[in-house]
Amino acid sequence: MTETAAAVKRGGSKMAIIGAGSVGSAIAFACLMRSVVSELLIDDYDKKICEGQVLDLQDAAFVSSTKIRVGTPKECGQADIIVITAGARQRPGETRDELVHRNEEILSSVLSGLQPINPHAILVLVANPVNILTCMAQKLSGLPSHQVIGTGTVLDSVRFRVAMKDLLHVSETSVHGYIVGDHGDKQVAVWSSATIGGKPLLSFEEVKVLDLSKEAEKVARKAYTIIDLKGATSFGIAAVVSELALCITLNKLSVMPISTYCERFQACLSFPVSLGANGVERIIYPDMNAKEIAMVEASAEATRQACHNYM
Ligand code: 2OP
Repeated sequence: MTETAAAVKRGGSKMAIIGAGSVGSAIAFACLMRSVVSELLIDDYDKKICEGQVLDLQDAAFVSSTKIRVGTPKECGQADIIVITAGARQRPGETRDELVHRNEEILSSVLSGLQPINPHAILVLVANPVNILTCMAQKLSGLPSHQVIGTGTVLDSVRFRVAMKDLLHVSETSVHGYIVGDHGDKQVAVWSSATIGGKPLLSFEEVKVLDLSKEAEKVARKAYTIIDLKGATSFGIAAVVSELALCITLNKLSVMPISTYCERFQACLSFPVSLGANGVERIIYPDMNAKEIAMVEASAEATRQACHNYM
């Protein structure tokens, strides 16, 4: 797609958010503030909450060029970008994997309500466990798999980069490092090929003295800390979804670590991909050492087992 065509697409494009809870409404707010699309629809099984959120968001829309309203499931199914946040959320101490049965049921009912889904839509899964729900939606939505993605480890990678920023005093946007695999306890920090300014991260004196497993653990535990303190996470993931949506509407082909089917590991996992108007353009596997590969294999095996019904 040319730049002009992509800009036109942004101007005329429609996003639907399914789920008007704390995550869905924060995503709507972030997308509204950045005028990511021209129209934003929100749907929730709780119509009262949904209407309340929309009325509140409409009060914020004066700084945006996006129009926002309640949408029916059928209207939402016709959007260009469909974001699914509906699902049970983690309680303090609960893992993302423990949500699987509740959220599989919710996802299955959401997807049938959206049918027939716009064949050009990009479906973005946000609810957890995101790799498993992405795999399920790839099977049940009827869309080609490159159009069905999950937010994956974008947020974990941001958390990793911010930790390195605080340590090394460089902007997080200059830290080229990824968390891959699982958006959960089995996530893998790819230290071995991370760089800043073309220099391997592991060659910085401040990094050489770190206990790498402990640092990675801190990144993986950040969501638990936030959930313990305030009950849920919402703003980080909202910023992530607004960025993914911009990549899609502007056909930016930026490289972001999102959930997608990874042939190399025979599972839906989060790996860097270039993301544009057609969804995933290509997957880029960072160079990983043997230990990192073994950790990814372990999370791939767990994901394959959890997804066996949809493979
Ligand atoms: C997060 O990492 C809980 O998955 C959510 O913020």
